[in-house]
Amino acid sequence: MLAAASEEYPLMTPRPGWTEQDPESWWDASQAVLNGVVSQLRDPPLGLGLTGQMHGSVFLDKSDRVIRPAILWSDQRTAAQCEAITKKVGAKRLVAITGNPAITGFQAPKILWLREDEPEAYAKVRRVLLPKDYIRLRLTGEYATDVSDASGTLLLDLRGRAWSDEVLDALEIARSWLPAIFESPDVSGAVSDAAAAATGLPAGLKVAAGAGDNAAAAIGNGIVREGIVSSSIGTSGVVFASSDTARIDPRGRLHAFCHAIPGRYHLMGVTLAAGGALRWWRDASGSGLDYDAMAELAAQAPPGSEGLVFLPYLTGERTPHMDAHARGAFFGLNLRHSLPHLTRAVMEGVVYSLKDCLDLMTGMRLPVTEVRATGGGARSHLWRQLQADVFGLPVHRTRIDEGPAFGAALLAGVAAGAYADVFEASALVQLDPEVNQPDPNLNRLYQGYHKAYSDLYSATAPVMHRLADLGSTSP
Ligand code: XUL
Repeated sequence: MLAAASEEYPLMTPRPGWTEQDPESWWDASQAVLNGVVSQLRDPPLGLGLTGQMHGSVFLDKSDRVIRPAILWSDQRTAAQCEAITKKVGAKRLVAITGNPAITGFQAPKILWLREDEPEAYAKVRRVLLPKDYIRLRLTGEYATDVSDASGTLLLDLRGRAWSDEVLDALEIARSWLPAIFESPDVSGAVSDAAAAATGLPAGLKVAAGAGDNAAAAIGNGIVREGIVSSSIGTSGVVFASSDTARIDPRGRLHAFCHAIPGRYHLMGVTLAAGGALRWWRDASGSGLDYDAMAELAAQAPPGSEGLVFLPYLTGERTPHMDAHARGAFFGLNLRHSLPHLTRAVMEGVVYSLKDCLDLMTGMRLPVTEVRATGGGARSHLWRQLQADVFGLPVHRTRIDEGPAFGAALLAGVAAGAYADVFEASALVQLDPEVNQPDPNLNRLYQGYHKAYSDLYSATAPVMHRLADLGSTSP
């Protein structure tokens, strides 16, 4: 890595469960970051790769003006639209075509929401783009996306790697609104003169189609063949596996998406509160500790937290339950439990949830022999060791921690002709020599705890739903 820069932009939550951002703030940040990076380079760049948060909707009018703030992946406003999509396309057919059930965060339900709830804005729409593809439009003037990000719209024919006419017709969404689809390492356009002036990039620079943040991170972590999976603990947790063929869970519990490697696919399990659960516990417990100190505290309690299990469903859950109304819990509390036990239980609960994702993958005959820990959680020795012990697998980590951005740069390298293909590019990924090996005794212990964890959801889901309902009613 030769140069890096970063910028922040605000998140807007106009109502509970709503998350929005202003695409103009992404473009401002992109310009600042690109100028910052270009000024650190000695040689001109060969190409540019794009990546970004998935699933968001940028609605554009006939002059490419942004009509309203973008609605994001984490937004939960579209439960009614998800039900309608499931009815219109048919639950089984939707999973068979797109690889996924209707999920509130995905793009298609957001388009239907706009039609129903903001008809005036909807009347102006001529284009709908994913977040990174709006930046591409500003850079190149092209309306384009890549197969991995397009997989998160619910409008893609997964096997055909093209927009699905059947789904578009059923939902009455105009095909002309959607961008052209490319394979991730393909050239999707070139930096325009205006964008060159705004960013410091050379005009005419090739821009690779790029990938959604998870697929790009996978390239950046070397997850390009079956057998090695990544397990990321950021705000949310993601288990990501490359698949040579389009494996689809008929119940849609894992996301089935196109990979950023031409012709390949990936399976992904998402737990919504991972590092976010520990952040919540830090704040709610009033401990005032930083994450290293939290891990030290957790390490004071024994494995299994002496019979205490935490369910991390603080904002509902995706994998494996696909249940927006699931709720969190500490279960098994007794008088011996103190702050270290509760803190360890939170970390263990997150890892049990990641284990659910792995189990679904192996259940689909996807081999898993090695795990690469990524995200902020990979920096914690305890969190890596918990994964090794709970999964019963060796846990490695990569030297470069900029997963998605590094992966996008590798895709740019392929687009620019510096590497023959994505496999050659991702062979650059280097592993840290330190490996966390599983302890067989602890793995046996954790199997019992993981079973109790799984049984708790089935046993308590109806009560979780009642509580979610009661909690949303004000007195
Ligand atoms: C993936 C997902 C998130 C976003 C966050 O399905 O919703 O990982 O891509 O950036």
